[in-house]
Amino acid sequence: MPLRIGVPRETAAGERRVALVPETVAKLVKDGLEVVVESGAGAAAYYPDDAYTAAGAKLAPSSASVLGGGGIVVKVSPPTAAEAALLVPGTILVSFMNTTRSLDAIARLRDGKVTVFALELLPRITRAQSMDALSSQATVAGYRSALIAAENIPRIVPMLTTAAGTIRPAKVLILGAGVAGLMAIATSKRLGAVVEAYDVRRAAGEQVRSLGAKFLELAINAEGAGGYARELTTEEKAQEQKMVSEAVALADAVITTANVPGRKAPLLVSRETALRMKPGAVIVDLAAESGGNCELTRPGERVIEGGVTVLGPLNLPSEAPFHASQMYSKNVQSFLGLLVGPGGALTTPFTDEILVASLLTHDGAVTHAPTAALLGAPK
Ligand SMILES: NC(=O)c1ccc[n+]([C@@H]2O[C@H](COP(=O)([O-])OP(=O)(O)OC[C@H]3O[C@@H](n4cnc5c(N)ncnc54)[C@H](O)[C@@H]3O)[C@@H](O)[C@H]2O)c1
Repeated sequence: MPLRIGVPRETAAGERRVALVPETVAKLVKDGLEVVVESGAGAAAYYPDDAYTAAGAKLAPSSASVLGGGGIVVKVSPPTAAEAALLVPGTILVSFMNTTRSLDAIARLRDGKVTVFALELLPRITRAQSMDALSSQATVAGYRSALIAAENIPRIVPMLTTAAGTIRPAKVLILGAGVAGLMAIATSKRLGAVVEAYDVRRAAGEQVRSLGAKFLELAINAEGAGGYARELTTEEKAQEQKMVSEAVALADAVITTANVPGRKAPLLVSRETALRMKPGAVIVDLAAESGGNCELTRPGERVIEGGVTVLGPLNLPSEAPFHASQMYSKNVQSFLGLLVGPGGALTTPFTDEILVASLLTHDGAVTHAPTAALLGAPK
């Protein structure tokens, strides 16, 4: 019996992505796997059912039959507790898990003896790059954020010299130059903006400059473990606030992307700083979901105060679902390459360091220490 890969339709509000696209399905089927896709799973991302059947997938009428069929189930958003309850013992789930927010579902998966690999726990090592779903989706989010900023300012972005006079280019400031920030810089540059960026990791400076943007530098280097940023000291935070405040006041649009893994997002733009911006200026806060980089941000909402608009968009990758799904699907395919050996058999035990790091639950236990601590011992 070939190993079965199940692809349910995503059910989270506003989620338009799908975990596998037909092109990837064709490759998995060629490798000897059986792929079962819930009817309509790719519709919102413009991958119709007939493209999946042409790729060799079987269509299933309901999520219950996909989730309850065993094998490996691949998803984008974490399952709800009800979806988790449909997975039979021994099923392997590969998905983003929002480990701090999906505790009910994780408890069910643990108790239901489902093996869960959470893609956000993947180590950021070179060998894992092709599986790095956080990066692929942050790329899409960064791209979208620059378009949202451009659409919401009352100005034209590029410099124009016309018979009706000269228009000066818009100034865009990017705070946090990780994966999303760098894509926001590149996209804003392509639109013709004058771009400045800031990050606490000094290594980001070279990448920012190579994209043709100016890097705002503090005498701080807060590069922490695994290439991520560490939290700043109180004194460092004060220095940062002062420099950021001056740059924000001059910008037409600010895009904030700063995050510190496992912590609330750093507050970079206070209310006072935001109100120093000119009327019509816009802040797009990509950290809205993890607490926001701007004091005025409300997740999922548009706040207008003192003529300044603050947007806290949620799930931006889902706004470009076709390509976000294509990239995610490629990440999942690479990850499955670690789980499934030649001939389509499961590679057990899970000893590869990438599998070990991303394993969230297995055999009735939560194997990720911070999540286990949040959940307490199983009942
Ligand atoms: N080697 C790999 O395979 C690989 C893959 C992906 C990412 N990475 C690296 O990991 C790093 C982080 O990636 P990410 O985008 O997922 O990070 P992230 O989403 O955790 O954070 C976004 C950015 O915010 C910055 N930040 C945090 N606190 C800040 C503050 N107070 N002020 C300003 N900026 C602040 C971080 O330095 C980071 O660049 C980057 O260096 C990236 O290139 C490496």
